[in-house]
Amino acid sequence: MIGFFDSGVGGLTVLEEVHKRLPEYDTVYLGDSARAPYGEKTHDQLVTYAWQGIEWLFAQGCELVILACNSASASALREIQQTKLHACPGKRVLGVIRPTVEELAEQGFRNIAVFSTEATARSEAYTHEFHKINPNIHVISHACVNWGPMIEFGKLGTKELEDDIEKEIRAVKQKGRIDAVLLACTHYPYIKKDVEKMFQDAPVFDQGPFIALSLQDYLERHVEIDVKLTKQGQRLYFVTGSVPQAEMIARDRFGFDVHFKQMKIA
Ligand code: DGL
Repeated sequence: MIGFFDSGVGGLTVLEEVHKRLPEYDTVYLGDSARAPYGEKTHDQLVTYAWQGIEWLFAQGCELVILACNSASASALREIQQTKLHACPGKRVLGVIRPTVEELAEQGFRNIAVFSTEATARSEAYTHEFHKINPNIHVISHACVNWGPMIEFGKLGTKELEDDIEKEIRAVKQKGRIDAVLLACTHYPYIKKDVEKMFQDAPVFDQGPFIALSLQDYLERHVEIDVKLTKQGQRLYFVTGSVPQAEMIARDRFGFDVHFKQMKIA
């Protein structure tokens, strides 16, 4: 099985793209909505929370976990890989930042606005990764502190969220020329259309398709991992917070019922 971990329902936007590209792979999703938002958490909290989620997914039989949450990938992934993963021989954890940057950098944009949480912006992970590939890419990093919690906690489609989107986009446009926009938080694809409306001249990218493509490539290159993954199209969904809320958001997103189970993480 492949595990997916996020702070809540956001990672479903990555998972749906993986399901489209790799439908036969068994997946387990865990959203830690009881402790969301992750965007305002400290580095130490993100390491602890993400590792608890990953260990639980390993215990369910996952050989590979995608740390879908950008905030956790940006702040905690390296520490987890260097100091914790050795306790689980053979298991792998992959983040979402490097694959996103690799795919987008290839497209030749020079001025990229990166919308993210506070934790992701603070880490400067996107700027560092883009610059490793091409130091001439100008990254306009912008934290949208309200978007994640508003999407997670039922404010999709409200005037309050609409106003906040407009406010943040007006602010980012003051920062200079923008050729492309990256939604660098798994929750933001839920409002992609609203963002696109305000960027007539710049394409808006979400990460799901990039992650799915890069995962497929990874599995082709790592046959020793791929052979351990079960492939019967089984899909399991867990949240630590409200099941009805997660199911409502998932139904709106997928257009069919997704059944979540609740689990207590700590
Ligand atoms: N979805 C998470 C991310 O990709 C963050 C949302 C939150 O603040 O919980 O960063």
